[in-house]
Amino acid sequence: MTQEMPNSLIEFARAAQGALAPADWDYLTEGALPGQAGGDNVHAWNALRVRPRVLRGVAQADISTTVLGARISSPIFVAPNGRATRYHPEGERAIVRATAAKGAGALLASSVGASIGALRASAPNALLWSQLYISGDRGFIKDRVELAHASGAGAIVLTVDLLPDANALKPPPLKPVAWETPKNGEPAPLFTGASIDDLAWLCDISPLPVVVKGVLRADDAAECVAAGARGLIVSNHGGNQVQDAIASATALPEIVSACGGRAEIYVDGGIRSGATILKAIALGARAVMVGRPFSHALAVGGEQGVAACLALLEHELQRAMLLCGASRVSDINRDLLAA
Ligand SMILES: Cc1cc2nc3c(=O)[nH]c(=O)nc-3n(C[C@H](O)[C@H](O)[C@H](O)COP(=O)(O)O)c2cc1C
Repeated sequence: MTQEMPNSLIEFARAAQGALAPADWDYLTEGALPGQAGGDNVHAWNALRVRPRVLRGVAQADISTTVLGARISSPIFVAPNGRATRYHPEGERAIVRATAAKGAGALLASSVGASIGALRASAPNALLWSQLYISGDRGFIKDRVELAHASGAGAIVLTVDLLPDANALKPPPLKPVAWETPKNGEPAPLFTGASIDDLAWLCDISPLPVVVKGVLRADDAAECVAAGARGLIVSNHGGNQVQDAIASATALPEIVSACGGRAEIYVDGGIRSGATILKAIALGARAVMVGRPFSHALAVGGEQGVAACLALLEHELQRAMLLCGASRVSDINRDLLAA
């Protein structure tokens, strides 16, 4: 049965607030301090102004592109907000089915990593990237990398900006659901002791390209690329780790200028419209990751909700491109933004 879906991201958010238990809504929404929802990310994107280009004879806009050599229907990935079964019983299975149907990408949280085979089986064509944290247990990391590789993942994403108790709110307990593989004792992340040598080791043992998530400075970005990273996600974890961390839109240009030619640069945090995606690409991002809006959509309508949210963002991006005289993603450049 098809259910009518909201037709804006704001309406999805409102409906999700009604659908979720208050503790799950607060966990998803809060920033590094209670009341600081998502930091400055949205404001920083909103402050950038577009200079539309007119009369360019552009009647159609192709929003497809590639990430690490793989074709993708649009430069949009669903970012993990912890376990997606918190927002809907179908959780990640709904996300991978909806993204696979469109040809978009899904980044799977480390906490679902053990179920990647089950997720692949439910959507054989899905573009899946598998996220990991560094722990002191290299055997565990190696097993997870091998599992991701065997399950046809396109990349390993190492998230480097999380301190397990930094969220303002603890995630409320979560019951396992039938389709998932039982969790195989994920060790605690160890960021305070991890170094660039841990990344170099991972790049060395991984048969898949490694992408680092949570970089906000050009010097760190350059070191990650020198250690073997093939991509970087400019991110402040949705504003829920370092209080008052720089917005990802503000950090993006310095990282693109330091490493843009040597690695693919992606960005997340506060992306809430197709015009924002156009701005991110104009600043040099290859693709964007979108977190909370897809969790809202999942809470409201499961697979159908995620598909509707993706269709909204894709349609808005297409429209923004047409209004800026861009017929392909590669036509979007810095010239489209006011200085
Ligand atoms: C509640 C919550 C849980 C998150 N869990 C993860 C996670 O498991 N792994 C990870 O790499 N990032 C995690 N993140 C960060 C998101 O992947 C992403 O960076 C962020 O949601 C992007 O910002 P946006 O929500 O404004 O789009 C989490 C963020 C939130 C808000």
